[in-house]
Amino acid sequence: MRILVTGAAGFIGSTTAELLIERGHEVVALDSLVSGQADNVPSGATFVEGDCGDTELVRSLGSFEACVHFAGRIEPGESMKYPEAFFANNAASTFRLLDVLVQSGVGRFVFSSSCAVYGDQVVMPIDEDRPTQPHSPYGQSKLMVEEGLRWLVSLGRMRAATLRYFNAAGGTLAHPERHRPEIHLIPIALDAAAGRRERLDIFGSDYPTPDGTCIRDYIHVSDLAEAHALAITALDDHPELILNLGTGVGSSNRQVAEMVQSVTGTEFEIRYGDRRPGDPAAAIAGSGRAREILGWRPERSDLERIVGDAWAAYQSVQ
Ligand SMILES: NC(=O)c1ccc[n+]([C@@H]2O[C@H](COP(=O)([O-])OP(=O)(O)OC[C@H]3O[C@@H](n4cnc5c(N)ncnc54)[C@H](O)[C@@H]3O)[C@@H](O)[C@H]2O)c1
Repeated sequence: MRILVTGAAGFIGSTTAELLIERGHEVVALDSLVSGQADNVPSGATFVEGDCGDTELVRSLGSFEACVHFAGRIEPGESMKYPEAFFANNAASTFRLLDVLVQSGVGRFVFSSSCAVYGDQVVMPIDEDRPTQPHSPYGQSKLMVEEGLRWLVSLGRMRAATLRYFNAAGGTLAHPERHRPEIHLIPIALDAAAGRRERLDIFGSDYPTPDGTCIRDYIHVSDLAEAHALAITALDDHPELILNLGTGVGSSNRQVAEMVQSVTGTEFEIRYGDRRPGDPAAAIAGSGRAREILGWRPERSDLERIVGDAWAAYQSVQ
């Protein structure tokens, strides 16, 4: 298939583009480099630098059988300061992209959504039938696209898979996790292990969780990439898919920090500070639907493997 991968200079997009190329697809990688890095784009892809909302540019790329759309800004905290930038970049640009792709007859669209569409849920795990109630413009921008896609599917314009990731983590030697700015716990903890940060700050130790720190569901980026490859195929049988991608197992911030210390053999300082506004106490995926429909198994997503792979990838680029 000829596949457009937007955001292919980023963490998850580059890993997935690599897998799609390995599976024999032709990949055109589109990225504005607003936060990604050109050297992340797999060498087997055709790289085009530009915004996914640039309709002239996207039209000039020709037609595609599928698009996997990772491009987006990812920081919920920043979205509370600059909501307009998130709606413009994540929602408006996506609708402009869709306008061109639908007109050129793209059959399948796979969208990077997020557990942020669920907001703060009390009952765990969170399955796809839980009401959506984003607590940030970031989550809202994802939900806006999801809702647009539902109309496009119901009106027979295209087939679409919405994949709601929980916490992407891990990494491969070719594609380490390195966001700009870095906001994710594991790479920040690895910085502390490598002596690049004075200490690791953990926000909140009085949550209603067993050790008082927030709980998240970490999913290895290679498992995420596999789910995308499966979703593209599954769209042949399902015009619309809405699937959580997570393991169903939660790890607390404290457990993650201690795992990083154990895997790296270091004892950096961990400082427990105040809660950060907007952080839910827990986010654990009910991922039975992805397992059932895609036949997907997150095989690389135990915490020790995730941290070990992230550390190997981290060291490879230092
Ligand atoms: N990392 C996670 O844990 C996580 C969780 C849930 C959802 N997601 C979603 O997955 C996607 C990929 O996340 P990531 O962790 O790889 O982030 P990333 O920042 O590494 O990658 C995003 C890429 O998109 C590019 N980009 C941003 N806006 C663009 C635009 N308008 N046009 C073209 N390129 C643009 C950036 O330059 C970057 O290379 C994002 O949409 C994110 O919201 C990520």
